[in-house]
Amino acid sequence: MSRSKRKLNKKSKQPFNINRKSLLGILSMTFQEIMDTLLTKSKIKKPKEQEVLELVKRKAKKGNTDSILKIIDNYAYKKTFLMNIGDKKGLLLEEAIKDSNAINVLELGVYLGYSSIRILRSLSTEGKLTSIEANEDFAEIAKQHIEIADLSKQHEIKIGRSNELIPQLDSAYDFVFIDHWKDLYLSDLKLLEASGLLKKGAWIFADNVVLFNLEDYLDYVRTSDQFDSKFTPALREYSSSQPDGVEISIYNS
Ligand SMILES: C[S@@+](CC[C@H](N)C(=O)[O-])C[C@H]1O[C@@H](n2cnc3c(N)ncnc32)[C@H](O)[C@@H]1O
Repeated sequence: MSRSKRKLNKKSKQPFNINRKSLLGILSMTFQEIMDTLLTKSKIKKPKEQEVLELVKRKAKKGNTDSILKIIDNYAYKKTFLMNIGDKKGLLLEEAIKDSNAINVLELGVYLGYSSIRILRSLSTEGKLTSIEANEDFAEIAKQHIEIADLSKQHEIKIGRSNELIPQLDSAYDFVFIDHWKDLYLSDLKLLEASGLLKKGAWIFADNVVLFNLEDYLDYVRTSDQFDSKFTPALREYSSSQPDGVEISIYNS
């Protein structure tokens, strides 16, 4: 994103209010999650994440990222919801990685490694991605997906909570993808700033800022003198109607 294209959004209202469509979408997502948890707990089916890994192992072509992403997307569209960034916002993420010329990237929230694969395949050969994931089972599945994608050489995954691991990081980042629990976006961004882990000109890409009504986060990046911030509207992952969007903020300090 060139400097001239960056829109400076100062103190603002939410880009979208939660409307009937959003509410129905959130209810349907929650219902799918509850059903999946109940079926898994009663041992009627395996956890959906395990099912996805088995499909990828069986059907994906080694080193072919498109085939892996397609299997994961098909599962989320046709079977049950998965909390990946998804195919449409995933392209925005890939475009941002390329436009930023990022070399050292940090990802908060990995889940199945879907966004990690999109980031890794958009990086140059000297690029590196460090990902933080709190759930050990998800981290293990992500590692295997990234291994099948043949992208492990440029990747490191740290298992633990972001607020505990961020202070232990020792190199500054030129791109941060924030996509973990939504109540942590603002505190972890402030922690990254306070720990001196953002390079001048670093891009911060935050997903789901509309879906979860992240007003505090948006107000902060849009009013702080340290950031130039721009909103891009999009639909929620795997939805054809539910509003969402991503916020890209550039650190000027
Ligand atoms: C929305 S998912 C990530 C999706 C992934 N970025 C993608 O697009 O493929 C959120 C993930 O963040 C993880 N998570 C939540 N809170 C966390 C924390 N404090 N530190 C690290 N990971 C966390 C969850 O376990 C979950 O796997």
